[in-house]
Amino acid sequence: MNLKALELLDMNESLQKTVKGIDTTMVVKKFLVRGFNVSPEAAKMVVSFSDPDLLIAEICKISKNKFIICEEDVLMALKNLEKAPKKREVTKEDKKEEKIERVKILKDVNNSFVQGTIEDFVAYFNSRLEKIGRIFRGRVHSVKIKDLGRIRGENVSVIGMVNNVFDKKESVVIELEDQTGTINCIASGKCAEVARELLGDEVIAVTGTLKGSSMIVDRIVFPDCPTNGEIKPIDFGVVFISDTHFGSKGFLEDSWKNFIEWLNCESENAELNKIAEKVKYLIVAGDIVDGVGVYPDQEKELAIIDVYEQYEVAAMHLDDIRKDITVLISPGNHDAVRQAEPQPCLPKEFSNLFPSNVKNLGNPAFVELEGLRVLIYHGRSLDDLVTKIPRLSYEYPHKAMEELLKRRHLCPLYGGRSPIAPSKEDLLVIDELPDVLHSGHVHTYGTGFYRGVFLVNSSTWQAQTEFQKKINLNPIPCNVAVYFGDKVYRINFGGG
Ligand SMILES: [Fe+2]
Repeated sequence: MNLKALELLDMNESLQKTVKGIDTTMVVKKFLVRGFNVSPEAAKMVVSFSDPDLLIAEICKISKNKFIICEEDVLMALKNLEKAPKKREVTKEDKKEEKIERVKILKDVNNSFVQGTIEDFVAYFNSRLEKIGRIFRGRVHSVKIKDLGRIRGENVSVIGMVNNVFDKKESVVIELEDQTGTINCIASGKCAEVARELLGDEVIAVTGTLKGSSMIVDRIVFPDCPTNGEIKPIDFGVVFISDTHFGSKGFLEDSWKNFIEWLNCESENAELNKIAEKVKYLIVAGDIVDGVGVYPDQEKELAIIDVYEQYEVAAMHLDDIRKDITVLISPGNHDAVRQAEPQPCLPKEFSNLFPSNVKNLGNPAFVELEGLRVLIYHGRSLDDLVTKIPRLSYEYPHKAMEELLKRRHLCPLYGGRSPIAPSKEDLLVIDELPDVLHSGHVHTYGTGFYRGVFLVNSSTWQAQTEFQKKINLNPIPCNVAVYFGDKVYRINFGGG
């Protein structure tokens, strides 16, 4: 009997004492998602170790060209771990507390049930008008529509919600409404061009003069953002990603592995590792999994047809990320929460699968990371903007995101492709400005600054789907934005 066999025997004896009906399925899956098969004996050995995840990581590291993990591989990894210098023990609870302190949740979506009655919608749109009206205050001196008749002949402003926009001869008519009435505002020339880009139910201010029962428009004013060229300096990095679509046949696993290797400072490029070392936060803006039944015939494009298993795989992939990085996840239209926005965070049955450094948020979510204020929104309304405004395209998603800031609303168009849940308060209004607005959904990549706010649309980890082929949407996958305030890096991890 050689030494190796003896060690194996000892290990098996200790296994008899420690493994009592423990399910090794999870271990098998953890290896599978990393591209390895594992023998039942080796899986049992892993389960019996005090920190199976640490052992799995070490086994994968030393078995790069192997197909099946055997007991010998586990023993070798155990030996390596024994030799490795002991790290300071930090309990799971310590880690959780530290992460929560560093992340302040400024606004999130609660789980309140909305019936969607006419009264709910009236309250919802009143909230929108009131909240955006407040943004105009101090800048636009407006009167209520019912009082317009008293100011005949003078230049006057009204703040209202766009009911309808239609062409009439050379002009464009904006039907504007507030809580007191409705008025037709007639825009021509440059104002007509602006009016043609207006979205139903967005809130604007119109300045002009009254003629008959209509208003002749001089100026259309958007709530917009004050010009602020100041970029908040930070001494840490934030990585923005979205649309991982775990569970899809199109999931670009090799590129994802390259990304994780880099994030864990294990890439072959020392310069890139230096950037990764400074990363403290990873934000995932929705479509964590591909979901089930999201669009017709989706099952043909699924590698995993059970949504729970999709989240299990998602959790395993996120578990590969080094634990000093806080991961914030927010859902999208493919995730297992209600489709109407705002969307609450993932239910516990899924979020409990994730490691302790993952924070589960709603969509949208407004967070502060050591002073950096980040607004996370999946970005479904970008479809509406690209469809409605011809100068916008999926190729430059950050340009469409500028329109959200200009309109101070994450989903300005009601009745388009983005369903809205009529909560009493309109949580989609951007009443407080962030330092960063992060979206995904369109599967392309784009970054830019708009009046001091950093905009990032963060690519995808899914190859082009059949549906995207039909609508001629060419994804820009596996591109990652790393934000340092005054510096932004774009790293491409492959994937076409
Ligand atoms: Fe997506």
